[in-house]
Amino acid sequence: MPNDVFTLTRDDYLSDEVWAAERARIFHRGWMLAGAGQRLQRGNRTVVELAGESVLLTRDLEGRLHAFANVCRHRGARLCEAHDTSSQGSLMCPYHAWTYALDGRLIATPHLDETEVDKSTLPLWQYHLREWQGLVFVSLHPEPPEFDQWLRDHAPEMLKFERFGLDQLQVVASTRCDIAANWKIVIENYQECLHCTRVHPELVDITPIYRTGWVTDHEREDGGVTVDRAKAGSPYRNPLPSLPGVSGADHTSYFGATVFANGFVDITDPSVVISTLYPDGPHRTVMTMDFLFHPDAINTPGFDPQPIIDFNVLVGNQDNAVCESVHRGVSSKAFEHGVLTPKDEYVIWFTQHYRNVMA
Ligand code: FES
Ligand SMILES: [Fe+2]
Repeated sequence: MPNDVFTLTRDDYLSDEVWAAERARIFHRGWMLAGAGQRLQRGNRTVVELAGESVLLTRDLEGRLHAFANVCRHRGARLCEAHDTSSQGSLMCPYHAWTYALDGRLIATPHLDETEVDKSTLPLWQYHLREWQGLVFVSLHPEPPEFDQWLRDHAPEMLKFERFGLDQLQVVASTRCDIAANWKIVIENYQECLHCTRVHPELVDITPIYRTGWVTDHEREDGGVTVDRAKAGSPYRNPLPSLPGVSGADHTSYFGATVFANGFVDITDPSVVISTLYPDGPHRTVMTMDFLFHPDAINTPGFDPQPIIDFNVLVGNQDNAVCESVHRGVSSKAFEHGVLTPKDEYVIWFTQHYRNVMA
């Protein structure tokens, strides 16, 4: 068989021009995943970096989510720093103390009365936001693509997850890591399991098909792969109330989906992990993981999510190390492109999809 199906090129991974084009054609044109909505309680705010744009997410006192440019309408100061997740019910600019409600209205301008400032004309600049199955999506484009069609085009596998009732789950923990690798390398790595035997001994121990190099089970139509939950060393051994919609083989299965271009959703009953990538230039990707369970599981006496969190962080760190190695490798002058094999079928899909969107 000729190896004539190629990966992306060194320039695709490393060049500043390609990164600028990705921002314009992918990240700032369509919708970006911004994490699990349940991370944000009423009255809270958080800051996310969406491909070079600082975006303020708030949940107002009525429970509605909003996305704003993280910039003051007065003279442009940054409103909130990344570590500021306080819940004060309003947002005060650190420069001259102009204050905004969590729905973006400008409500106070110290030393300036209504003859000097018309507050009603100066709300925060708002972005489009959509909450779908507990996942928050933001579009920075003034006229974003229609969301449902966009989801069908860019995350078709996600549609199968509606049956798991993700919007009924609660976030019990969130982690964050910094990966010295291009965002596309992180996604490509997620799309194949030729590396699993070598890189993830603990994972292949409970997911037998991964020993073969296949990332999905072609004998199954539901997209799942079998997990040996009872095996010694499995973090899924302790029985807990299941996710909604789980039945039959779902109890001992793993399901995964990619949200193009910046997220993964992993489901292994009784938990869901939402991984969100925040690309920061060609050479760095920040990733957060939100861990979700059903309230019935959380309320079970002795509920302990830590083994599942630790296991997923372990596998994630194993992946991050090889992604950083690839990033260093493709920086070689010798690297023009790599080759893709039949077992890289989802990497091939990703590469073609990326080329289409960038064209
Ligand atoms: S820049 Fe924000 S109050 Fe002046
Ligand atoms: Fe992996």
